Amino acid sequence: MTTTGPRLEEVTPGNLDAALGIRVRPGQEHAVAPVVKSLAEAYVHPGVAWPRLIVDGDRPVGFLMAFLDIDWHEDGSVLRSGLWRLNIAAGEQGRGYGRFAVESVAGELRRRGTKELYVTWHPGPDGPEGFYLGLGFRTNGETSGGQTVGVLDLT
Ligand SMILES: CC(C)(COP(=O)(O)OP(=O)(O)OC[C@H]1O[C@@H](n2cnc3c(N)ncnc32)[C@H](O)[C@@H]1OP(=O)(O)O)[C@@H](O)C(=O)NCCC(=O)NCCS
Repeated sequence: MTTTGPRLEEVTPGNLDAALGIRVRPGQEHAVAPVVKSLAEAYVHPGVAWPRLIVDGDRPVGFLMAFLDIDWHEDGSVLRSGLWRLNIAAGEQGRGYGRFAVESVAGELRRRGTKELYVTWHPGPDGPEGFYLGLGFRTNGETSGGQTVGVLDLT
């Protein structure tokens, strides 16, 4: 990381190509959608999707997309917020950018008064489970579309 540290940028015409150019490692592509799909989803879910490019100095190092108050069971009974997508670029992994992304979303949700940060991940040794558990997420026994549901307490 640079001495000034990483930051989040809104996706704009000026950095769109940089965002689209973020690629995870080839063996990780099952674990997360490509940025282009996330940005298309952000377009059709305005107000719910919160996409950001992760930049360190002048280097685009990753992409995240949070979700804000999703109707989890599609019946209006439970609203949840959390991390929808996290893609750290292949050559930038292991440098703390994933942790920065999670902490940034946690900070944004706290500012909005949210008490829990949800995430879902593909189970299995090649997935990010160890990353999330190491950051303090706990499983809650739920699955969603075949993925493990994890939650981080923000209180
Ligand atoms: C999972 C991912 C986001 C981690 O990002 P990263 O920038 O490499 O992670 P960091 O460098 O911030 O690591 C933070 C800590 O988690 C650990 N960690 C990272 N990936 C891990 C993994 N797959 N399993 C176990 N621990 C892991 C690091 O060793 C580090 O631990 P430390 O603080 O004790 O040294 C990144 O590998 C990635 O983009 N993977 C492909 C896409 C993906 O799975 N996204 C999540 C979709 S839900």
